[in-house]
Amino acid sequence: MTTAKADLDSDIISLARLALAGRAQDIQLLLQRIARKTRLEKPELSNSLTALLREAPTKETPLRRMAEVAMPVDNDSRLHLLKIEDNIEFDHAPVLAGDVASMLHQLIAERGQLAALDAAGLDPTKTALFVGPPGVGKTLAARWLAKQLNKPLMILDLAAVMSSYLGRTGANLRQVLDYAKQADCVLLLDELDAIAKRRDDRDEVGELKRLVTVLLQQIDDWPARGLLLAATNHPDLLDPAVWRRFEMKLEFPMPDRDAIEDLVGRLLRPYHENASHWAKVLAIALQGKSFSDIQQSIERTRRAAAISGDALEFYLQGLIQLDGLAKADRISLATMLVGSGLSQRNVQKLTGIARDTVRSHTQSEAVPRRRKGG
Ligand SMILES: Nc1ncnc2c1ncn2[C@@H]1O[C@H](COP(=O)(O)OP(=O)(O)O)[C@@H](O)[C@H]1O
Ligand SMILES: [Mg+2]
Repeated sequence: MTTAKADLDSDIISLARLALAGRAQDIQLLLQRIARKTRLEKPELSNSLTALLREAPTKETPLRRMAEVAMPVDNDSRLHLLKIEDNIEFDHAPVLAGDVASMLHQLIAERGQLAALDAAGLDPTKTALFVGPPGVGKTLAARWLAKQLNKPLMILDLAAVMSSYLGRTGANLRQVLDYAKQADCVLLLDELDAIAKRRDDRDEVGELKRLVTVLLQQIDDWPARGLLLAATNHPDLLDPAVWRRFEMKLEFPMPDRDAIEDLVGRLLRPYHENASHWAKVLAIALQGKSFSDIQQSIERTRRAAAISGDALEFYLQGLIQLDGLAKADRISLATMLVGSGLSQRNVQKLTGIARDTVRSHTQSEAVPRRRKGG
């Protein structure tokens, strides 16, 4: 009993500290812990705390209002079908290419001008389909959009849903979409093509047809003020009727040189004084890779440098791969590396470009060529 009392005393001190620091979320967690701990010995205290916690959400967000509604769960796996992201934070802003950027900004602008749209008898765009290869920022763009709109993001991973017993998938899908419809959120149907991928299985054709019907109905019934996003790597696999339902289609391209330079710059700038230079070098060296691969490569080099104590530059050089690089690109790369103070010998080793070639190239860049016979 005395240890229990000492325990409670220390909880009160922690509580006071958190309250004075205004850390509402931590207070909630602590109170939950106290309620659990005291359930047997002090049921009244435990019950009152639980009641208070239920009544007093810290922040009035749509999600907390929804907290009372049961989350949809697959009856077979009991896994949560929906992933909910609230208060989304980014380590670095996403790099958004031309068309994608302008369409996303249009979606945001529409939501800020509901009255103007209304006056013109229009609803904002309520459905958008993100198309593109893996790792180019489709899921990231959905998170970014939700953040800009100041709404929580709910993600339904259809690949996960489809791996459950198909007979229940239609019911699961309807349950999830009904739930999301009530919340003031952005819903992302991720990996939408997963539905189509099971079409090879003959026995399941009927069930899949029903599933597509559920999906079409749900898209049609989607509230005008809600935002329904879907992402796919295989637009060719989608049912044409599903494809047509989406009012806006955004094609996410693989990053070009400028986009790679932009991303690498953003990733390195806080940690490296020569970030802009390396962004230019790696924009050439990492061509053909997705944003996701590039980010992982950069993080790998930072980890390697951190644990070895060696200079980050050393590991960044290690990212330079020559396969598939055109000769002209290799020459630019070599010129840049020489410009950054790397020895001619090292540059030759890294790029395979001979010292003389680099030298003549550097000179032809610097001095305008003499006219023939001049
Ligand atoms: N356009 C981008 N700008 C910045 N980082 C990106 C971009 N695209 C992808 N990434 C990085 O790669 C990770 C995976 O990208 P993701 O959005 O999941 O790709 P997708 O959904 O297209 O397969 C992201 O979390 C982010 O760190
Ligand atoms: Mg994704």
